Amino acid sequence: MTKPKVYVSRIIADEGLNLLRESCELHVWQEKNLMPRDVQLKLFADCSGLLTTTNIKVDAQLLEACPAVKAVSNQAVGYDNIDINACTAAGVPVGNTPDVLTETTADLAFALLLAAARRLAEMVEWIKQDRWTPERGMLENLGTDVHHATLGIIGLGRIGREVARRAAGFNMTILYHDLIRDPQAEQAFGARYVDKETLLSQSDFVSLHLPLSAETLHYIGPNELKLMKPSAMLINSARGQIVDQPALLDALQNGRIAGAGLDVTDPEPMRHDNPLLALPQVTVLPHIGSATRKTRARMAQRAAQNLINALNGRPMISCVNPEAFGKGRSASLCK
Ligand code: GLV
Repeated sequence: MTKPKVYVSRIIADEGLNLLRESCELHVWQEKNLMPRDVQLKLFADCSGLLTTTNIKVDAQLLEACPAVKAVSNQAVGYDNIDINACTAAGVPVGNTPDVLTETTADLAFALLLAAARRLAEMVEWIKQDRWTPERGMLENLGTDVHHATLGIIGLGRIGREVARRAAGFNMTILYHDLIRDPQAEQAFGARYVDKETLLSQSDFVSLHLPLSAETLHYIGPNELKLMKPSAMLINSARGQIVDQPALLDALQNGRIAGAGLDVTDPEPMRHDNPLLALPQVTVLPHIGSATRKTRARMAQRAAQNLINALNGRPMISCVNPEAFGKGRSASLCK
């Protein structure tokens, strides 16, 4: 039996590549530069499956140019790089990698919160500039307490819940806002459901855990930032475009909020001369939420298994649009 041809759009962990090698004709983009769009359309054209990373845009144009593609597996929990409606219409199931990265990403969100509160990046820089002298005063280098502060979590999904679990260990008061209430989290972490305005106006830290969609684009804009306390900090480890970044810059420059911790920016990558980087009260990381060795290996494994399952007529372990499987292009996989 001929093996299905699959393309992996960037080098991923061997744990995933080895799985694919066993049952597929495997092609991997080995170059350091990202695969240009015209090259994608050419190289993907006769592939049955694609393993994509978030820098690849899977849309109607790509699907049309690549008629053999029957399944797409995104190595990420987020899938805002993929037009799910177009994939569903074509009968192309789309996999993602939730669960395996939940705790790692929650760790990073919490690290960012601590770093912003205690000015870690700024203090490291301060020592490097040789400013740590015996004269350093008792009222210099002061930060904000995390313990017993109020944390507002927007989006109490998998990652938001794990952030709540960590916050409970720091004796924080936890507020949350989401489309639906989560009585389990309320019981487990004492999290209190509040409307968006209450969360923004009462929290010392606001942490975002929403997927990016048309509804959540610029979910935090000038009006939301105005509601926050002048002493509050915004933590974003979800997607950069959830925050209106010029509005955030303005709020920080004018003291309307006290600080920000960002693992995601708009655009990415952020360039070194971005004005946010000139503000000492802003900590920016280069989108490393899931970037640990173990987690990237587990993500690669999950993404590979999702693709292998679909190409062998079995449901993906985690699929964004399971209703697409077995219809249209993927109908032939299930015979
Ligand atoms: C990373 O941002 C992901 O969505 O997994």
